[in-house]
Amino acid sequence: MEFTQLIALRQSVRAFKDIKMDSATILKILEAGRLAPSAVNFQPWRFIVVDDDHLLENLWLSYPRQWIKSAPQAILVCGDHSESWKRAADNKDHGDIDAAIAIDHITLMAASLGIGTCWVCNFNPQIVRESFNLPDNLEPIAIIPMGYPQDSLLPTDKKRKDLRDIAFHNGLINSFE
Ligand SMILES: Cc1cc2nc3c(=O)[nH]c(=O)nc-3n(C[C@H](O)[C@H](O)[C@H](O)COP(=O)(O)O)c2cc1C
Repeated sequence: MEFTQLIALRQSVRAFKDIKMDSATILKILEAGRLAPSAVNFQPWRFIVVDDDHLLENLWLSYPRQWIKSAPQAILVCGDHSESWKRAADNKDHGDIDAAIAIDHITLMAASLGIGTCWVCNFNPQIVRESFNLPDNLEPIAIIPMGYPQDSLLPTDKKRKDLRDIAFHNGLINSFE
C-alpha cells in the first residue's frame, strides 16, 4: 500500500467486531513497533498485549467508556524511565517521544492489515499500574485497543489545521508555501 494511502486509512476506530486477531497478526504489529527509532536507540518501551478478559475489564475500568469494551484485544504501551535518554542540557526525558513513534508504527501497521486502533491516553494510570503490577520505573503511556473494525477501514479526509497555520519559512512570520 502506498504510504499516503496508509496515512489516510489510519484513523481512530471506536467500534470493533468481536473477533480476536491471531498471534501472527499481532506479532506483525509488534514487530513494527520494535523497529521504531528511539533516542540513542535505547528502545525504552514495553508492549503488553492484553487479551485476558479479566485484565481487559481492569483496563477498561481505567478508561470507563462504553465504546472501548468492544475491543477484543489491546496493547498497553509502557515507557521505562530508567532506560530512556535524558538530554544533558536540561534533563528532558525522551521516553514519551520514543513511545509515541513506536505507537505510530503500531497503528500504521495495524491499518495496513485492516485492523483498527485508537490511541487512548485519558485513562487513570493508577488503575493500570495496580492491575499490571507495574514497577515504578515503568509508566503506562497509552492503551491501544485494537481489533477488526465494525465498519471496514476506508480512507478518511482528516480534520486538520491548514498547513499554512502550522508550517513556516525561516521563522514564525511567513508560512511555508
Ligand atoms: C496522544 C494521543 C492521545 C489520545 N487519547 C485519546 C483518548 O484518550 N480517547 C480517545 O477516544 N481518543 C484519543 N486519541 C485519539 C484522537 O482523538 C485522534 O487521534 C484525533 O482526534 C484525530 O483523529 P484520527 O485518529 O481519526 O485521525 C488520542 C490521540 C493521541 C495522539
